[in-house]
This record gives sequence, structure tokens and C-alpha cells, in this order.
Amino acid sequence: MNKSASQPRIDLIPETAPFPAEQRAWLNGFFAALVLPEGSAATPLSLEGNAAITGSLSGDADDGETPWHDVMLSIEERLALADGRPLRRRMMAAMAQQDCGQCGYNCETYADALAAQKENRVNLCAPGGKETARMLKTLALELETTETAASLPGEAVTPSIPVPDRGRSRDCPASARFLSRRRLNREGSEKETWHIEIDLSQSGLDYKVGDSLGVFPRNDLGLVDQIIGMLGASHITPVRGKTLREVLQSELSLSPAPDDLFELISFITGGAQREKARRLAQGEDPDGDAAALDVLAALQKFPGARPHPEAFVEALSPLQPRLYSISSSPKVARGRLSLTVDAVRYVVGKRKRLGVASTFLGERIAQGDELSIYIQAAHGFALPEDPTIAVIMIGPGTGVAPFRAFLQDRGASKATGKNWLFFGHQRSTHDFFYADEFQAMKSSGLLTRLSLAWSRDGAEKFYVQDRMRQAGLDLWAWLAEGAHVYVCGDGQRMAKDVERALVDIVAQFGARSIDEAVAFVAQLKKAGRYQQDVY
Ligand SMILES: Cc1cc2nc3c(=O)[nH]c(=O)nc-3n(C[C@H](O)[C@H](O)[C@H](O)COP(=O)(O)OP(=O)(O)OC[C@H]3O[C@@H](n4cnc5c(N)ncnc54)[C@H](O)[C@@H]3O)c2cc1C
Ligand SMILES: NC(=O)c1ccc[n+]([C@@H]2O[C@H](COP(=O)([O-])OP(=O)(O)OC[C@H]3O[C@@H](n4cnc5c(N)ncnc54)[C@H](OP(=O)(O)O)[C@@H]3O)[C@@H](O)[C@H]2O)c1
Repeated sequence: MNKSASQPRIDLIPETAPFPAEQRAWLNGFFAALVLPEGSAATPLSLEGNAAITGSLSGDADDGETPWHDVMLSIEERLALADGRPLRRRMMAAMAQQDCGQCGYNCETYADALAAQKENRVNLCAPGGKETARMLKTLALELETTETAASLPGEAVTPSIPVPDRGRSRDCPASARFLSRRRLNREGSEKETWHIEIDLSQSGLDYKVGDSLGVFPRNDLGLVDQIIGMLGASHITPVRGKTLREVLQSELSLSPAPDDLFELISFITGGAQREKARRLAQGEDPDGDAAALDVLAALQKFPGARPHPEAFVEALSPLQPRLYSISSSPKVARGRLSLTVDAVRYVVGKRKRLGVASTFLGERIAQGDELSIYIQAAHGFALPEDPTIAVIMIGPGTGVAPFRAFLQDRGASKATGKNWLFFGHQRSTHDFFYADEFQAMKSSGLLTRLSLAWSRDGAEKFYVQDRMRQAGLDLWAWLAEGAHVYVCGDGQRMAKDVERALVDIVAQFGARSIDEAVAFVAQLKKAGRYQQDVY
């Protein structure tokens, strides 16, 4: 990133650290380039606040089209589509295109903020991971050439960015209390999904259905202690004014191993090991195992390297918050909210790996514990304002979360519009989340239709989109009456397949060609009648 020549020298590696003076000087320079000096930290941004940045960047003669904004394209394809466009557009093409909000922006406004140098963290795009961070780092080098910086329209304007309210942005979290967890799958299920309750009464925060909750997780202490063991350090080694154990548990990501860690290792090892670490730092994969290297696996791969704790923590990336769709309505759960969380667990080699936030919520946090949270307001994912409008909700797996909230809300406000829920999961006997609640809603008439799809009950896979096709005639009739359609859950495959099914239904039952049906669905999206919350 562009650093002013007048910036003070920053000594991140203490005098007492066991490095020769030359290496300490190099490491100081290396880390100073990575961490922000006091006062130059990016200003916290809300999604609304980002308008200031976007506005400041208009006028660079860009045509406004974003053909790369498609989650199905590879990063190479996206960048090729953005070739020749202004830096901010190429930066946008490097993002994962999910507009998931985890970075605190959407893909476009994050890129605009980087290009305008109002943000300098290049590692915020969670779904893009290291691939996106590396490309952003490369593109950001262009900001250091005077010509590029001078030609950036954003340079001339100082946007007025609002300071976010506490608990309303990842940059200003609030404290809440963990109330309870309850497993939603029956014993024997292949899934581990939790209904989580959180008390908001101390925080004074409120929310709307459709919003998500940002959760700052804490790492598993077993993993932290193994890492401290590999460093040959003590739990109570002081770093950043805390103990090493505290910093590794709460402040740093322990998976995947960042390039800077390999860079550091390359300086404290020699020979073939040094070369291997250097190549890993440059995004190469010398042994074909790069994707599986979390921080512990990286240390185990280079057992001769014992980074000093101070240098080690500076080489790691900050632990990022995770978003979860809120699965309750504030009209029903006053002062509380609930989440529906799938615990991510998998095995690499002989070691069990844990998704940090989902297992923090699903296992480690105890009843009554405080946790850091913020409400991520939904943008373009909300119930229709007119309570008489019908809604069709498609949410397999944990994708059902916001629809439980929608239904609670429509029930509490006595909305008269019809409600149709498509839910699907692996097995009817084990994975029917909130079955009693949905059955009761059906009996009361609140849930007009409940259509279920079990992918592993039979010999053949059967998904929500198959159920949609079966009910195509009725679905078309609801659409023709003005229903709004909502999709939540997996954005990689499910959301695409569901959209394809909808296009086919419009074509078949709406008597249109496929091209006309595609245009019809595009029009639904434009009119806010087809809304997605997908990841
Ligand atoms: C707007 C939004 C709403 C969301 N709502 C929900 C929700 O309601 N419920 C919900 O459960 N989640 C939801 N998510 C997803 C959630 O934010 C987290 O991404 C998810 O819980 C995983 O986070 P984690 O910290 O547990 O895992 P991480 O520590 O981030 O680990 C996940 C990573 O592990 C790796 N991985 C996972 N499985 C495997 C495997 N089998 N083999 C190899 N590698 C693997 C992948 O690299 C994956 O990216 C939502 C996301 C967004 C953006
Ligand atoms: N709001 C969000 O952004 C959001 C919401 C929900 C989940 N997620 C994330 O996604 C991950 C998985 O979530 P999950 O446990 O809810 O369920 P899941 O593993 O996605 O599975 C739910 C159901 O969808 C089926 N499915 C698989 N491929 C499909 C396709 N192409 N079309 C339609 N259905 C398909 C599955 O069947 P089979 O497995 O049998 O093939 C299963 O029956 C979690 O890690 C979670 O964090 C994000």
C-alpha cells in the first residue's frame, strides 16, 4: 500500500527478539508494510456509508457494466472480463462476487474503497480467500505509481463517512450473551446443525427479519496450545500486551496459513526448506498440499523453523467475524435472536479440522458467556411491505433460517398474504428442522403450503428444485398473482439450480420461450420480487 515518506519508523520486532540487527531491520520493514500505523486505520464503514466512496469514484469514464459479477466464473475469467478497465473495476473482479457482506461492504464498494485508498486491508474477502487477497495485493501495487494514484478520481474527494453505531458494523461490535444451543438433527444424522439463542437485552440492539448476525469467534484452545507447543513458547509469553494464548485464541486466524507466515519461515530456515517456504509464500504449491496447510500444518511442515512469538503473531491474519442469517423475528423473540448453524468439521490426514465460528457456537461457548456481535442489516432481502402479497420461500438446509424469521413475523403481524415454504435436507427422519413449528404453522393456516425434498431418503437425489418443478403449475399461478420469491442457502450450486428451475417453470407454464423466461426472471429480480441471500 502507498505509505507516505514522512511516516514514523515502526519497530514491531523488539530489541530483545533473537534476530541479528540486519534481520530485525528487514522484519521491521516487512511487517510495517503489512500493519497499519496508528491513525491510518481504515475508517469503519457501513454499507450505507460506502455510498460516499462509490460516489467519489464516478467520473473515471467507466461504462458501469460489471460482466464479471457472477459467482460461477473463475478469478482468471473474471479478471479477463475486467481487462483494460479502471483499477477499481479490476479490483472488483478479484472479489468472489457473492456480495455476502462479510467484508463490511459489497464487492463493488470494497473495491472502490481500496482503489480510493480509504481501505487498505486486502484480506477481507472471506469467500475469495487467499486467491483474492493475493490478486488485490498485486493490483494495489498500481496505487504506488504516481500516475495511477494521481489519475484516481477518488483522490480529489474526501468522503464524509459516518462513524458506525455500536453493534451495527464489524468495526464496532457490541456485547451479547449466549443463552443456549439445541441440536436440530436427530441422533444418527450426518449433519450437526444447531439452533442457537442469543440475548440482546444488554446490548440494546434491535434487528429486522432478513438481517444477519456477525459473530466474532474464538479459536479452539486445543489447537492454540498445539501451536504454542510447536513454537516452543510459553502460554504466558507476552505479546501485544496480552498472553500469547489469549492473542492466538481471540485475535488471529489459525486457518489457512497466510503467505506472510511462509515468508517469515523462509527467512528462518535454510536450503531446500527456505526455497519451499518462499514458493509457498508466492502462491505456488511445491508439494501439492498448499490448500490443506492451516497454521499448525504449516509449522509441522517446517519443524526446524521456530518463529519468535512476536514475529509469528505479526505474520498471521486477523480473525474475521462470520455472518449468520437470523432465524427469529423480534416480534416473537423480544430482546433475543436465534441462529441456525451448521457445524463445519472435516478431517485432513489424521487431524480433525474445525470451522472456527460454527464450532465456537455449536460447542465451545458456554451458557451465559459474553460474545462480540454486530447486526448486518439486510440489503435487498426483506418481506414485501404490503402484507397481502404472497411469498414463496426456498431454503434447503440452514437456508431455512431467515424463512423461520419471515414466518414468525408474518404470523405476529397477522399478514394476510399466502406463505409457501420449500424446505429440503438429507433425511426426513433426521434433518427436518423446526418440524413441529412448521406443522403447527400449517395447521393454523399461516403456512399455506409446505413442500419438502429429501435428498437421501431414496436411491436418487431429490432437491427443492425438483419439488418446485412438480408444483410448477401452482408456482406459476402464485407468480402471476404477484408473489415474491426468496432463496437462501448455498450460492455455488443450489441457488443456480433453483433459478434454472424457475426459468423452466415460467417457460412451460407461462407459455414463453426460454429467452423470454430468462428475461421474466431478470425482471422479477429488478422489481425486487426475486431476492436471494446466498453464500
Ligand atoms: C450472509 C451470510 C449468511 C450466512 N448464514 C448462515 C446460516 O444461517 N447458517 C450457517 O450455518 N452458515 C451461514 N453462513 C456461513 C457462515 O458465515 C460461515 O461461513 C460458516 O459457518 C463457516 O464458518 P466457520 O468459521 O465455522 O468455518 P471456517 O473456519 O471459515 O472454515 C470453513 C472453511 O473450511 C474449509 N472446509 C470446509 N469443509 C471442508 C471439507 N470438507 N474439506 C476441506 N475443507 C473444508 C473451506 O475452506 C471453508 O471455507 C452465512 C454466510 C453469509 C455470508
Ligand atoms: N445464508 C447463507 O449464506 C447460508 C445459509 C445456509 C448455509 N450456508 C453455508 O452452507 C453450508 C452447508 O449448509 P447446510 O448444512 O445448510 O446444508 P447443505 O449441506 O447445503 O445441504 C442442504 C440440502 O441441500 C441439498 N443440495 C445439495 N446440492 C444441491 C443443489 N445443487 N440444489 C439443491 N439442493 C442441493 C443437500 O443434498 P445432498 O447433500 O444430499 O446432496 C441437502 O439435502 C454451511 O457450511 C453453511 O455455513 C450459508
